[in-house]
Amino acid sequence: MVKKEKLDRVYLDYSATTPTDPRVVEEISRVMLEDFGNPSSIHQFGRDARKLVDKAREEIRNFINANDPSEIIFTSGGSESDNLAIFGLLAKSKIKKPHIITSPIEHKAILETLQVLEKKELIELSMVRVDRDGLIDLENLKREIKHNTILITIMYANNEIGTIQPIRDIGKYLEKINTQRIAGGFSKIYFHTDAVQAFQYLNMDVKYLHVDMVSVSGHKFYGPKGVGFIYVKEGTPIEKTIFGGGQEFNKRAGTENVPGICGMAKAVQILKKEKEKDGEKIKKLRDKLVTEILKTPGVHLTGHKTKRLPSIASFVFDAIEGESILINLDLEGIAVSTGSACTSGTLSPSHVLSACGYEHIEAQGNIRFSLGKYTTSKDIDRVLDILPGIVERLREMSPLG
Ligand SMILES: Cc1ncc(COP(=O)(O)O)c(C=O)c1O
Repeated sequence: MVKKEKLDRVYLDYSATTPTDPRVVEEISRVMLEDFGNPSSIHQFGRDARKLVDKAREEIRNFINANDPSEIIFTSGGSESDNLAIFGLLAKSKIKKPHIITSPIEHKAILETLQVLEKKELIELSMVRVDRDGLIDLENLKREIKHNTILITIMYANNEIGTIQPIRDIGKYLEKINTQRIAGGFSKIYFHTDAVQAFQYLNMDVKYLHVDMVSVSGHKFYGPKGVGFIYVKEGTPIEKTIFGGGQEFNKRAGTENVPGICGMAKAVQILKKEKEKDGEKIKKLRDKLVTEILKTPGVHLTGHKTKRLPSIASFVFDAIEGESILINLDLEGIAVSTGSACTSGTLSPSHVLSACGYEHIEAQGNIRFSLGKYTTSKDIDRVLDILPGIVERLREMSPLG
């Protein structure tokens, strides 16, 4: 049971993590109690657990329209899936110093991984330009492609500002040029997308998207934490990065997290039925929040006006620090987040907003509200009641004003 004082709070940080759906919790508990076997064991306990993992894999295969269950590799979450896409492909590449293209607004699981590899001179790295709305420049991406490009990794939707990228357009373009590249003796360019934030809202049909690899994380769609998966299209060469047993089609060693996998599959099953209805409700509440907050002077919505997730409303407030708003809202029982990170006592602005061209001082005024299926109209009204007073008070005290 959720404690009463927690129920009285308003949770608007669904992009950080979602509450676990009680139906998922029920499934996890059942599996933990009844089906504790190791799926690699030959006896009945093992075979029962194996059956559950196979069923979960099939549920996910069906949801993303993959060809074969072996294209779904279970991992510990989004970060591991992102790492596996990059390190796994790199380990199999025969090119001496391969070239990879990404965007500067990716999650750190992509950006940091690639920057470390670049620093070690193991790859060449190009960053595609993004505009003020966080939308990538497709023509710039096409121009960045080189003879040694092996991978393009672009996130489906951004976790801070919610902007949705033209994944299908990139995928279709790459398919076309790959045919010419392979005929000309050049390496194929594989296409990976981090769909951690997009999964519960957008079209996840991998054939429609024309992608080779997709990262997904269970705890962003009411599933458990510490479990996720990566879709790896058949024929995409990846080496495992966790060595040991031959689990996950020899692409990820380690005893499967059976309860987590079953819980995530349950969350997918629920999503299949409730995705549309929940998405519409969330969008309505988000639109109300945006319309009302923008009535306050000196507030700007970040991200693209229309190509955006229904759940995210991120703003920059002139002349105040987002972190001060966050703390004041928290004192009132409202949980939100900011893209700025406090490192050694100073606020470093969000790398996403900086890449979109926001000045340091503007980006420091960032607050992200992220809504979900349990958000109510009452929650939004509470924010709208409290926020203007906080903004006014902070502006009166602000040295930035
Ligand atoms: C876009 C994106 N990618 C990757 C991750 C990392 O996922 P996980 O927390 O499952 O490692 C996150 C989590 O915030 C995310 O938003």
